[in-house]
Amino acid sequence: MIPFNQLKPLHDLLADEIHEALRRVAESGWYILGPEVRAFEAEFANYHGLARAVGVANGTDAIELALRAGGIGVGDEVITVAHTAMATVTAIESAGAKPVLADIDLETYTLDPLSARGAITERTRALVVVHLYGQPADMDALKTLAEEHELLLIEDCAQAHGAQYKGRKVGAIGDMGAFSFYPTKNMGAYGDGGAVITDNPEYAERLEQERNYGQTSRYTHQTRGTNSRLDEMQAAVLRVKLKRLDKHNARRREIAALYDANLRSVTTPSAPAGRQHAYHLYVIRDRNRDALMAALAERNIGTLIHYPIPAHLQDSHRDLGLAVGSLPRTEKAAREILSLPLYIGLSDEEVLRVCAAIEDIRG
Ligand SMILES: Cc1ncc(COP(=O)(O)O)c(C=O)c1O
Repeated sequence: MIPFNQLKPLHDLLADEIHEALRRVAESGWYILGPEVRAFEAEFANYHGLARAVGVANGTDAIELALRAGGIGVGDEVITVAHTAMATVTAIESAGAKPVLADIDLETYTLDPLSARGAITERTRALVVVHLYGQPADMDALKTLAEEHELLLIEDCAQAHGAQYKGRKVGAIGDMGAFSFYPTKNMGAYGDGGAVITDNPEYAERLEQERNYGQTSRYTHQTRGTNSRLDEMQAAVLRVKLKRLDKHNARRREIAALYDANLRSVTTPSAPAGRQHAYHLYVIRDRNRDALMAALAERNIGTLIHYPIPAHLQDSHRDLGLAVGSLPRTEKAAREILSLPLYIGLSDEEVLRVCAAIEDIRG
């Protein structure tokens, strides 16, 4: 049996340090927005070479609060992709704005700058660019587009901790980078968590207010906010994980290279020059994806589809008015993609077994 993912092997590797971090918080008597969160924010900002990081409750809130901090709200249009976790789209709606869904580039599964350009109207105020699967989007073209049209540029880095575009970490290229620390992510907490990073002190201050009921100082409110705080336990765990992020990403890239070298009969992920993939997911493409997935399941190899139904074709979002066929590359991806096992603790030998099974099924 090779599961699609498991988190226990990584916990076992780090157990001593994680337990020590959790005990430190438990014994400190301070559980929300305390010294661990402050230290994690400083370390996470520093990792990205930026001035500020603001811890929030989850990655969905990170996107919503980044939009709010950037002044986006009712009446504004925000361009993003339909080929993403639904959270990207719902976060835009929670900020009060209208998501406008553009198509992807099939090589990288990320926002196609030409399609984004075509979606701009006089109401467009922001782009939410998703570095899906850990693959950086075409940031040069998207940044140019954002500058030309004075759009706020937010990077959804939920799947791309530590990925790089032309030597810069993703999240540090646009106006703000939004992260999720959901346990399965490249840097996962032991519960929900998220953060927004930025070099802009005004955005950072607004984020700090937004996450804490809009408080500017104790019991004083200048704006309306919400409750979206990172807690001390999660911050303490994340400090342990951050120290290993680059090492864990290097292992993810090793696994991806092994897949690349041993898969012949399916389309493997692309590696455009200047982009360093963080391989949150290793996603192949195959015309007979459903049959391949079933045959792998018969051999006890777990796979998943990220994501089988694009946002514009979900029942929940019919009112966006996008019919089948309106985002052809997104829809083709949804029909053909398959995510293979990839986690810290997966052995080379297991990767080779997955490759051999795929070649045998397809051969
Ligand atoms: C691309 C993307 N954006 C946003 C999110 C939302 O993160 P969270 O689950 O922490 O709210 C996720 C995680 O599922 C994601 O994969």
